[in-house]
Amino acid sequence: MLGGPSLSTSNYLDVKTVALSRQFLRIGTSSVDLFEYQARDLFESYGVPVLAGIIADTPEEAKAAAEKLGGVTVVKAQVKAGGRGKAGGVKVAKTPDDAFEAAKAILGLEIKGLTVKRVMVAAGADIKEEYYFSVLLDRANRSYLSLSSFEGGMEIEELAVERPDALARVEIDPLVGIDLETAKKIAVQAKFPADIVDKVAPVFVKLYDVYKGEDATLVEVNPLVLTGAGDIVALDGKVSLDENAEFRHANHEALVDTDAEDPLEAKAKKLGLNYVKLDGEVGVIGNGAGLVMSTLDVVSYAGEKHKGVKPANFLDIGGGASAEVMANGLDVIFGDPQTKSVFVNVFGGITSCDAVANGIVGALKTLGDAATKPTVVRLDGNNVEEGRRILSEYAHPLVTIAENMDQGADKAAELASK
Ligand SMILES: Nc1ncnc2c1ncn2[C@@H]1O[C@H](COP(=O)(O)OP(=O)(O)OP(=O)(O)O)[C@@H](O)[C@H]1O
Ligand SMILES: [Mg+2]
Repeated sequence: MLGGPSLSTSNYLDVKTVALSRQFLRIGTSSVDLFEYQARDLFESYGVPVLAGIIADTPEEAKAAAEKLGGVTVVKAQVKAGGRGKAGGVKVAKTPDDAFEAAKAILGLEIKGLTVKRVMVAAGADIKEEYYFSVLLDRANRSYLSLSSFEGGMEIEELAVERPDALARVEIDPLVGIDLETAKKIAVQAKFPADIVDKVAPVFVKLYDVYKGEDATLVEVNPLVLTGAGDIVALDGKVSLDENAEFRHANHEALVDTDAEDPLEAKAKKLGLNYVKLDGEVGVIGNGAGLVMSTLDVVSYAGEKHKGVKPANFLDIGGGASAEVMANGLDVIFGDPQTKSVFVNVFGGITSCDAVANGIVGALKTLGDAATKPTVVRLDGNNVEEGRRILSEYAHPLVTIAENMDQGADKAAELASK
């Protein structure tokens, strides 16, 4: 066999590796989770009934928002976590001064490890009943799934366990979606009484419009409420957007929370690279998902002999692996302060090894003194001799050329452990 992941790598598969692989798979399935206020705005633009809401970053802004809205308001923590109510992140405010105090108490609060930096001041609803509705991508069944219940309010995970029969699961045919007929079927199955079925069904249809129109993987409303006046309103919204569909939605980029993004992940994304941060010490660059995953295995395995070092991150430069891409990749990996050494593992297929070697040389020239980490390079495949020749001729003091993948991983782990 000419290079490629060695067959023996399957022996390295252990629990840790599976966890790593899962993280890798995140690349193919990444999503953008929205804040409640963003979901609210999206709902509104699709005609889903929502209440007025104004975001505030300070107690003063919250007070002004409550004055503007008038009447009773609800101050709500904007964090991407459920159970905000229970954690003290949702407070009713009768007056603008109450809203000030509520915002003061909520801003800075920690909810499930997330610090609240912003609240939404929402118009208060006169709640008569609380329901649950969601539509999501059901990967296991390669379909869409709608979950709904006449008994909302409580946490849906609890309901699913304690009263599974109260939760209607309806598979949605993606070719049909949720039309009015399907929506009514869902509501009946969720045990809504007949008069409410007619009220919620059109809202289910609109929520599905959001799901489909925005390429979402989740649209969840908990609670969907019936007000004293008899109206149906979405009081809380969770939306996850499929990042792979971003190119179809010019509005999605603005919805990404750049505050929470890992700066290196953001940089890699801008450069069109698939980069994932891990906890270890060895930076990993490879071309192609399969090879990168095998490389993670081999580095983890080699690390056991070298003080237990592990992969620090990984970057898939794709099947092409041109010189420019390699330069960008090295730049990102060198930028991770946790990285002690780098293992570049490339199998030349369409892109020949000399192009990759030139990329590495170019990157090192560009980076100059910024290239500070020992780098082990394993090249194999198309035009490997020329690739290795270019690297040995350049003879950069930080670069070691490995004969094969196992040796390269071992050397990189050793260098990282020093
Ligand atoms: N605008 C509002 N007017 C009146 N009551 C509200 C309003 N918004 C929320 N509530 C009440 O507060 C409860 C909790 O709010 P919400 O569901 O938005 O947050 P949550 O606790 O984080 O929920 P989840 O765990 O589903 O994310 C709701 O079930 C509802 O009873
Ligand atoms: Mg909720």
